[in-house]
Amino acid sequence: FAFTPANQAWAEAQITKYPEGRQASAIIPLLWRAQEQEGWLTRPAIEGVADMLGMAYMRAVEVASFYFMFQLHPVGSVANIQVCGTTSCMICGAEDLVAVCREKIADKPHTLSADGKFSWEEVECLGACANAPMAQIGKDYYEDLSARRLGEIIDELAAGKVPTPGPQTGRFASEPASGLT
Ligand code: FES
Repeated sequence: FAFTPANQAWAEAQITKYPEGRQASAIIPLLWRAQEQEGWLTRPAIEGVADMLGMAYMRAVEVASFYFMFQLHPVGSVANIQVCGTTSCMICGAEDLVAVCREKIADKPHTLSADGKFSWEEVECLGACANAPMAQIGKDYYEDLSARRLGEIIDELAAGKVPTPGPQTGRFASEPASGLT
């Protein structure tokens, strides 16, 4: 693994922000940049970041595996769908959203769809509990989801469209969206 020259320069600049002997504090931004470069955190990428920071590989893995913003498996080329499965979302239908992902993407999480475009996983609370159930797709939140609307969103993404993030079923919108069930 090697950062691109631009990312390498950026990473070195991050490291200088921390006091001597505390370079490991740059672990999260460097892992994030490595993931943005590679698409997910490969073992060589984690090793490369750990080496830059003078850390043991396992210490870097501990950080990378703690936060679900870090992907330790290949993700879909179009989107990785993170369905919140914590209490509010679970009560409001997260299991139905997971069922859509299993049907349309892959039976198991962290598995690519047959065309490689999608992957999915269940994650812990994403802090949008008032608009449960919800999912993070890429860097956007899709809230007040129904199973039907999530299925439509996946179809729209597969067709190259970018569905508008935010509330989806009209619960709080002035006009109900098409996915209202
Ligand atoms: Fe799902 Fe908080 S419980 S966003």
